Amino acid sequence: MLIQDTRAIVSGGASGLGLAVAELVVAAGGKVALFDVNDQAGVDAVRKLGPAASFHKVDVTVEKAVAAAVAAAITTMGGLNLAVSCAGVGWPKRMVGKEGTMPGDFFRKVIEINLIGTLLLCKEAAAAMQQNTPNAAGERGALVMTASVAAFDGQIGQVAYAASKGGVVGMTLPMARELASSGIRVVTIAPGLVHDADAGGPAGRSARFPRQAGAVPAASRPAGGIRATGGSDRREPDAERRDDPPRRRDPHGAALVISDYRLGSD
Ligand SMILES: NC(=O)c1ccc[n+]([C@@H]2O[C@H](COP(=O)([O-])OP(=O)(O)OC[C@H]3O[C@@H](n4cnc5c(N)ncnc54)[C@H](O)[C@@H]3O)[C@@H](O)[C@H]2O)c1
Repeated sequence: MLIQDTRAIVSGGASGLGLAVAELVVAAGGKVALFDVNDQAGVDAVRKLGPAASFHKVDVTVEKAVAAAVAAAITTMGGLNLAVSCAGVGWPKRMVGKEGTMPGDFFRKVIEINLIGTLLLCKEAAAAMQQNTPNAAGERGALVMTASVAAFDGQIGQVAYAASKGGVVGMTLPMARELASSGIRVVTIAPGLVHDADAGGPAGRSARFPRQAGAVPAASRPAGGIRATGGSDRREPDAERRDDPPRRRDPHGAALVISDYRLGSD
């Protein structure tokens, strides 16, 4: 699968990592549909990206809205072979804080956006991709989910966030196993702190994210994996032990591959 043939839905595509992915896809000649709740940012992003991009105001937690937006995006783009789930919130809160204990609804909302929202997009996208005619390599599409290094190394105040991202990591392998026979690859990335506009730097500066997400469709066969990337390297994740797969050093920082599942025939 070549990136110039990409017809991608990017949730959270109006900002940050999602927007950087959209920019990469469009620059390579592909098409993108941005799914986001922030319509002003979505409209601005499409104006910047040009006619290869469309914006769909959609809350990823609303099942019917996601299904309708996936159908609309397929009509607009003339197909779908990549879904990148970047919609998410990183709201911090202590479980037992000065102002009291964490409301269950707070925890629920973070799970709903970061975890359930990811599932709702992936299931609709995968169902649509299963209708694609496979290319010569047997590929019908790819799903990229965004976890976080917090899934393995959550900090104080990240009980809800880390739980949501741990859930995304947990979904990766069974999803990849389920979809491998359809020629749909599933990959989860687990970035560290990204230096984007909100973090005080130029958006897209952490260019390894879109490059890695962009590189996914170029791989040659069904696979699923979890990649932890980026610079939040205060401590190494407990998940990385001596018996884990060999680490690959990121020349830009502290990237490491937590795991890499290949579901091919060999
Ligand atoms: N920035 C980082 O350092 C970092 C590190 C690790 C993981 N991540 C993850 O990467 C993803 C993108 O983060 P970012 O830094 O680009 O954030 P961002 O805030 O720039 O972008 C997130 C986008 O998601 C949208 N969104 C939020 N709730 C939504 C909903 N219910 N439905 C649809 N859209 C919704 C927002 O409007 C926003 O445009 C998130 O899942 C985040 O948890 C970010």
